[in-house]
Amino acid sequence: MEKRHAVVTATGSYFPPKVISNSFFEGYLDTTDEWIKTRTGISERHYVEKGVASSDLALEASKILLKKRGIGPEEIDAIVFGTVTPDMMYPSSACLLQDKLGAKNAYGFDVSAGCCGFVFSYTTGVMLVESGRYDKVLVIGADVCTSFLDMNDRNTCVLFGDGAGAVLLEPAGPDEGMLDTIQHVDGSGGKYLYMAGGGSLNPTSAETVAKNLHTVHQEGREVFKHAVTKMADVAVEIVEKNGFSLEDVDLFVPHQANIRIIESVAKRMKLPREKVMININKFGNTTAATIPSCLDQAVESGRLKKGDLVVIASFGAGFTWGSALIRW
Ligand code: ACO
Repeated sequence: MEKRHAVVTATGSYFPPKVISNSFFEGYLDTTDEWIKTRTGISERHYVEKGVASSDLALEASKILLKKRGIGPEEIDAIVFGTVTPDMMYPSSACLLQDKLGAKNAYGFDVSAGCCGFVFSYTTGVMLVESGRYDKVLVIGADVCTSFLDMNDRNTCVLFGDGAGAVLLEPAGPDEGMLDTIQHVDGSGGKYLYMAGGGSLNPTSAETVAKNLHTVHQEGREVFKHAVTKMADVAVEIVEKNGFSLEDVDLFVPHQANIRIIESVAKRMKLPREKVMININKFGNTTAATIPSCLDQAVESGRLKKGDLVVIASFGAGFTWGSALIRW
């Protein structure tokens, strides 16, 4: 019997309306619009208002997706929710979204994989469909990155934004949908990018707050170095392993952490710029939301069409990294 594949049948994305430009940071930090633009590629990003959580952003992206697909929430069988900023420690954001969306027949769970939150969630969702057990799987990448930012740390606060993306996976024939995936973790990289407070090791206390353990710690140069090589290598590997050449790739959708990382990866892959999807200039690094929002915007703008060969790839905290090869 031929293997059942999973294809994306609808996409959605949502960014909260408040736009923060680089000049906001110039007002109180030792930084400039010029530094941020040239070193990161970011001009602006979107921030939530107080009280808006990851499941709220995911809800808006999911509603758009359902409308495009023309189905009701009760048709969803499972929700896989990639995030490092769940609404709370528990219940999972998948459970909270299931309730808000009215997806009363769906089960679901969160996937914590840093900036690989979407790649790992998408791959997990594909496997749920491929198993034959589930027919409509909603995959979310959503993060309220402002919830872990130290707004006085110029090394990190300028990089991140808030947002959500969603894709719907449904059964497909053997020549479409996800053709292959490669995923890795290397826990020894954990020391370069983490948020130490609020978990079982350092439960929130006056002391953890005083030590700023509730905000992101990143050794940018170390992360940058690994991101370039690992993301490019895994993207090239998946194309070549499946008998394609890089010229066959119609669109490369990388995680959006830094324009210099994206450009270095594209150079290592010898891909022309027009084949690389970029939205970091307007949204910053939205962690798990970068790739699904890029996919949604590529579909909406006509850059991504049925039958195209697509590579998605990401690298993030963990370290985590991975890619997927998709016949759209
Ligand atoms: N404005 C002005 N100067 C700054 C700023 C800023 N906003 N931020 C840092 N600098 C300074 C530094 O303090 C440093 O000054 P010093 O030399 O006097 O110490 C100088 O700029 C150079 O610092 P670098 O860290 O070498 O700067 P770099 O060019 O590497 O850029 C950056 C830093 C943007 C963080 C980059 O390293 C990067 O993008 N790293 C990877 C980020 C990433 O991929 N994260 C993974 C995903 S996140 C996740 O998984 C949750």
